Amino acid sequence: MKAVIPAAGLGTRFLPVTKAQPKEMLPVYDKPTIQYVVEEAVASGIDDILIVTGKGKRSIEDHFDKSFELEYFLEKNGKHELLESVEKISELADIYYVRQKEQRGLGDAIYCAKKHVDGEEVFAVLLGDTITISDIPCTRQLMDTYEEYGSSVIAVEKVPKEKVEMYGVIKPKTLTEDLYIVEDLVEKPSPEEAPSNFAIIGRYVLENEIFDHIENTSPGVGGEIQLTDAMRFLDRIYGYVFNGKTYDIGNKIDWLKTSIEFALEDEGIKEDIIDHLKELLNERV
Ligand code: UTP
Repeated sequence: MKAVIPAAGLGTRFLPVTKAQPKEMLPVYDKPTIQYVVEEAVASGIDDILIVTGKGKRSIEDHFDKSFELEYFLEKNGKHELLESVEKISELADIYYVRQKEQRGLGDAIYCAKKHVDGEEVFAVLLGDTITISDIPCTRQLMDTYEEYGSSVIAVEKVPKEKVEMYGVIKPKTLTEDLYIVEDLVEKPSPEEAPSNFAIIGRYVLENEIFDHIENTSPGVGGEIQLTDAMRFLDRIYGYVFNGKTYDIGNKIDWLKTSIEFALEDEGIKEDIIDHLKELLNERV
């Protein structure tokens, strides 16, 4: 299976940080966000990845490219551990790029992948600003569900009712404990209109027909071509309750929380961070 990672958005919720740099390159502790996303695809068994980029996103391509100068410098100075970590990045997978010329929404970004995934029955989509952590990678969980059930499948997660308007939300019909038939989908509904509090978290396995449906989808919420609106036309979609944790780093507060959480996972600096946080809290609370 091939993977598509849309990363062409303007990141307006993160301005001014994102004025001249992609939000997908924002570090979460010691790696740029999109590296976690590519690593998830690779850990799921995917080695062909298309990243949808746009204006101002060159640093994404540079990050996954070989850096001869840097590698030579590290080698010469005996910094072998760093050299290995840098070399590893450019060897992760076959990464291709396509540019979305206008930021017309997620549906339009996915449409840019049409040629690359031509002839494939299905492909995986991983949003470039969302990290997932689980024993079995989220995308792998979806691929396994597709193999078993044979239709498009999207990862969902229960969110507090007041947060549904930040997501695409499904109307679920129970099939098994962690699998639903998606009867309908709504992009960013108000809490009153939301058909459930199962939110789409940014991981999908989509059948190729989605491209025909995107073609027939008019701009929706925010004047953007919404993937959620196009998915409503697929014959059958499953909503899979992802078994793991999701981190949306597209807004400042969640990015900050995620960065702290990930830093606390590093035993080498954990105590230092805890002491610092305690100190800050003592001063303020
Ligand atoms: P978001 O809606 O979170 O990204 O899209 P955004 O539009 O950049 O964010 P804000 O609302 O302005 O802050 C989720 C993913 O889809 C990509 C984004 O780059 C992000 O990884 N995307 C979104 C595109 O590739 N193209 C688009 O036109 C919109």
